[in-house]
Amino acid sequence: MEGPISIRKREHLRLALEGDVERPLADKGPFEVVELAHRALPELDRDEVDPSTEFLGRRLAFPLLIGSMTGGTAEAGAINRRLAAAAQHCGVGMCLGSQRAALEDPKLSATFAVRDVAPDIPLVANLGAVQLREGVGADQVRELAAAVGADAVVFHHNAAQEAVQAEGDTRFGGLTAALAGTIEALDLPCGVKEVGCGFSEADARRLAELPLAFIESAGRGGTSWPAIEGLRARGVHDRELAAALAEWGTHSLTSLLVCLRHGDAPVVASGGLRGGLDAARALALGAAATAMALPLVRAAARSTAAVIEELAAFRKALVTGMFLTGSRDLAALRRVPHRVPPELLPEAWQDTADS
Ligand SMILES: Cc1cc2nc3c(=O)[nH]c(=O)nc-3n(C[C@H](O)[C@H](O)[C@H](O)COP(=O)(O)O)c2cc1C
Repeated sequence: MEGPISIRKREHLRLALEGDVERPLADKGPFEVVELAHRALPELDRDEVDPSTEFLGRRLAFPLLIGSMTGGTAEAGAINRRLAAAAQHCGVGMCLGSQRAALEDPKLSATFAVRDVAPDIPLVANLGAVQLREGVGADQVRELAAAVGADAVVFHHNAAQEAVQAEGDTRFGGLTAALAGTIEALDLPCGVKEVGCGFSEADARRLAELPLAFIESAGRGGTSWPAIEGLRARGVHDRELAAALAEWGTHSLTSLLVCLRHGDAPVVASGGLRGGLDAARALALGAAATAMALPLVRAAARSTAAVIEELAAFRKALVTGMFLTGSRDLAALRRVPHRVPPELLPEAWQDTADS
């Protein structure tokens, strides 16, 4: 019989595939507001552009990770295998969805198993950071990652989602210490991510104290988890609270910039990133790589070929953005002059720096 986590995962997937769950705050996506200096004289051929890089010790043909999404049901298992096969074909990385369901029912581990179709990609295991407050220890995390052949594990922070979920877990007190202890006990690269509400500067300062392999900034401007939970909520007041929080959080650009500013962990830009030109903008700001979630799960619900098509279009747009800024490689792209709307810079916040 299907347990409560699998039932919830199935609802989340259905709503993400069919619902109005994105919250761009303006007529432009969150990364589109960055302007890169155009070069009329790029002094290179488009075919010379090389967007390849390394992530977690593996090669990426271009710096994209398929964002953490799903697992825990048969349908999710099939989607994971299509995403992974497409990632292998195109040379990008993949982050699995939360493996909590597999912790509670080890049979569900099979719905996260993709290494056989994606032997070469950077593959990242996933668990809610709040699970570390629930007694989940380093040994269990190590097993979850080993079961799927992951190169790293990422702990997601989703306070806003848990806060509007009827069955949500809001015991976020002492989480940084729990995270620090787990990371120390694990002999595995560890990352942290948000799920679409971003990190503030105080968060980034805190994360800078941890020995992280990467931070995924996952700011506001793409998939909204309060919006998804709002569609699931039964009571009118719960629905109202979720709707009021649908646009809550730190803008994706601000989240990226504060994560880049503190500590030296590589930063993966995400949260409403919708294609290769957005990736060019995020990489020019200093991101080590990018992640995109919702458009790829929608493609994977159709076929592996549909995901490959999305990824090929992403690569072409990134290469075009690099060509038009005269960037032969990612190091050159990071030197491209750019401008960010001043209200999105971390300086726009009154930050007392004592939190
Ligand atoms: C269907 C779906 C399921 C998701 N499940 C997870 C999850 O299990 N763990 C996690 O860390 N993030 C999860 N996310 C959040 C994404 O990884 C990402 O941070 C967020 O969707 C913002 O990116 P986007 O705007 O490109 O979708 C999920 C997103 C979607 C669309």
